[in-house]
Amino acid sequence: MAAPEVASASELDARDPLAHFAAEFHHPVDAAGRKAVYLCGHSLGLQPKAAAAYVSQDLAEWQRLGVLGHTQGTRAGARPWIGYHEHAARGLAALAGASEIEVVAMNSLTINLHLMMVSFFRPAGPRNCVLIEKSAFPSDRYAVLSQLGFHGLDARHLIEVAPRPGEHVLRSEDIMATLEREGPRLALVLWPGVQYLSGQLFDLGAITAAAQAAGAVVGLDLAHAIGNVPLELHDWNADFAVWCSYKYLNAGPGAIGGCFVHARHAQRPDLPRFAGWWGHDKARRFEMGPDFHPIPGAEGWQVSNPPVLSAAPLLASLELFGRAGLARLREKSVQLTAFMQRSIQSRLGGAVEIITPLDAAQRGSQLSVRLALPSQAARRCHERLTAAGVIGDWREPDTLRFAPIALYNSFRDVAAAVDALAAAVEA
Ligand SMILES: Cc1ncc(COP(=O)(O)O)c(C=O)c1O
Repeated sequence: MAAPEVASASELDARDPLAHFAAEFHHPVDAAGRKAVYLCGHSLGLQPKAAAAYVSQDLAEWQRLGVLGHTQGTRAGARPWIGYHEHAARGLAALAGASEIEVVAMNSLTINLHLMMVSFFRPAGPRNCVLIEKSAFPSDRYAVLSQLGFHGLDARHLIEVAPRPGEHVLRSEDIMATLEREGPRLALVLWPGVQYLSGQLFDLGAITAAAQAAGAVVGLDLAHAIGNVPLELHDWNADFAVWCSYKYLNAGPGAIGGCFVHARHAQRPDLPRFAGWWGHDKARRFEMGPDFHPIPGAEGWQVSNPPVLSAAPLLASLELFGRAGLARLREKSVQLTAFMQRSIQSRLGGAVEIITPLDAAQRGSQLSVRLALPSQAARRCHERLTAAGVIGDWREPDTLRFAPIALYNSFRDVAAAVDALAAAVEA
């Protein structure tokens, strides 16, 4: 007889208006050719089937046209490479809650973070510190520390907010109290949308408002938020934001990243920046003149011409987001993750601890699970899961992360993953 979760999973799948989108993706298979249960979109999203066509079209244009492909196309709907990144603007703006002038697809996340900090981290007098969260993704920490060093400052100018002892997520009141206490010292607050390890989703509107009221500039790392949860970057008034596109945006390993710069900074040629010719006034770019005139808006922070072949899959994925709609995706995502939470709690009870907030408003798709086992044994559970065809991931010393993705996962995927987790823990 089917386990109770599986029966209700089938019912939920039958009622899911977005179920057909799963067929738009390639799902990994195991050595025996069985479809894996892929719950790792928080790390690398699955490949949209249309991605290969997008990439081959650009390869074909290169084959047929050589350099002329920058300005011409040989087929209907061709995307001349000169303005390639512009094709992503509408889709990214919709996901970011921004206007097109506020977003740009470029580089990778950490590079974009550096470019943004060059412009927006301007330590002056006693206002010379950066606030981050204690478990910030290491690359962000390294980037901030190196920017501090660049200004002749050091780790003493890095202020961190940590969860309380014995807790895994940050309390809003602690974030707000730190902003108030440290306000006069803060030049920049760099905050994640969704915390990569715990899966905690922050109230970015409230944090941005409090940080700006304290006199700080606000930058956001949306690696785990864009395409996962609705964002309103313009209305929240963030100064800048950066993201990668290989997680929830399904654009492939090392894909082109993205950046948001609020419209109020669009006409600020005075801001210091590390410039390059792709950020220069489009109308005058090929005059090859000596002086730099930035394009108004986020595009003005581009440095080099866009990597067409790594941007093509992003266009394929954005087309799917456009069709599905982020509001509907979020609705399904909340149900999927709640279903996973309930299934884990009922099947595994005290054998696991879910460290992600249990309130749907404080999390995205991801659930982070700690097993009540010594680290080695917990790690073996992860290996057993992988061998059973359930792909999540492992973060030292004891955390398993799973993200059921509304675009391509089903409730039955979740039920199968929880069955496999229960079997791995029992073994
Ligand atoms: C939260 C966060 N920040 C930064 C990065 C670094 O991204 P990149 O290698 O694209 O610079 C990652 C990568 O997974 C991440 O999860």
